[in-house]
Amino acid sequence: MVKEQKDVLLTVRNLETRFGTRTIHHGLDLDVYKGELLVLFGGSGTGKSTLLRAIIGLDQAASGSIRLGDQELLELDDKGWRDVRRQIGYSFQSGALFDSLTVGENLEYPLREFTHQNASERKAAATAMLKRVGLPGIEDLYPSQLSGGMQKRVGMARTLMLDPALILYDEPTAGLDPANSKMIAELMRELKQSGKTGILVTHDVPCALSVGDRIAYLHAGKISVVQTREDIDKSPDEHISAYMNGEIE
Ligand SMILES: Nc1ncnc2c1ncn2[C@@H]1O[C@H](COP(=O)(O)OP(=O)(O)OP(=O)(O)O)[C@@H](O)[C@H]1O
Ligand SMILES: [Mg+2]
Repeated sequence: MVKEQKDVLLTVRNLETRFGTRTIHHGLDLDVYKGELLVLFGGSGTGKSTLLRAIIGLDQAASGSIRLGDQELLELDDKGWRDVRRQIGYSFQSGALFDSLTVGENLEYPLREFTHQNASERKAAATAMLKRVGLPGIEDLYPSQLSGGMQKRVGMARTLMLDPALILYDEPTAGLDPANSKMIAELMRELKQSGKTGILVTHDVPCALSVGDRIAYLHAGKISVVQTREDIDKSPDEHISAYMNGEIE
């Protein structure tokens, strides 16, 4: 049987991350294929957010290798990181909108930072993106005037403004009501269909199974299992299955 050859977009090898003297990842390996949505499961505090933040070069000391296409991220200088962060959308666990800016200004912010678009182009792009995430017409509101679910969706919209090739979703549906969760799941599915690659960190098992292609399980500083959706349906790995049944926090 000829094995299907898949293009890899992101390759992590022998990654070690530390906060001070504390090591979070111990020799972690992971491949993310072009166009897939890879789900990352793992107990609370195992280092899922830390892995996403290592991929965009935030916070902690990291050694090993993280390659995006043909670029080694861990060797980049500040200018190199700036260019890479344009290609990677990071949707924060907290939403992380600027409270003193309106929704429209929040969405325009990455365009101001990274593009030469003029004011009317930026405004039109923000308006179009709000429609895309199902929140048309809220440009002039401030984040404090939105519900938690709306804030999350605006945060996601801001992530998409620069049309990133790789999107890192950190608990995008946490704390959302079913209607908002469903909208976020739909948006992730639509982005995957349009060719975006994604890593989805989530405790929301139904959402993960409805949009994910492969499921990776982070345990003791390493990826201990990766299974496709189909394999999970047939015979889930015991750790993944315990996690999905809520036996691992
Ligand atoms: N800025 C920081 N400084 C020091 N330690 C940190 C920092 N951020 C995270 N940690 C520690 O690193 C470990 C991994 O944290 P991380 O946030 O990556 O976990 P997580 O898997 O995303 O958990 P959760 O599911 O609860 O979001 C935790 O023990 C945490 O206390
Ligand atoms: Mg986290």
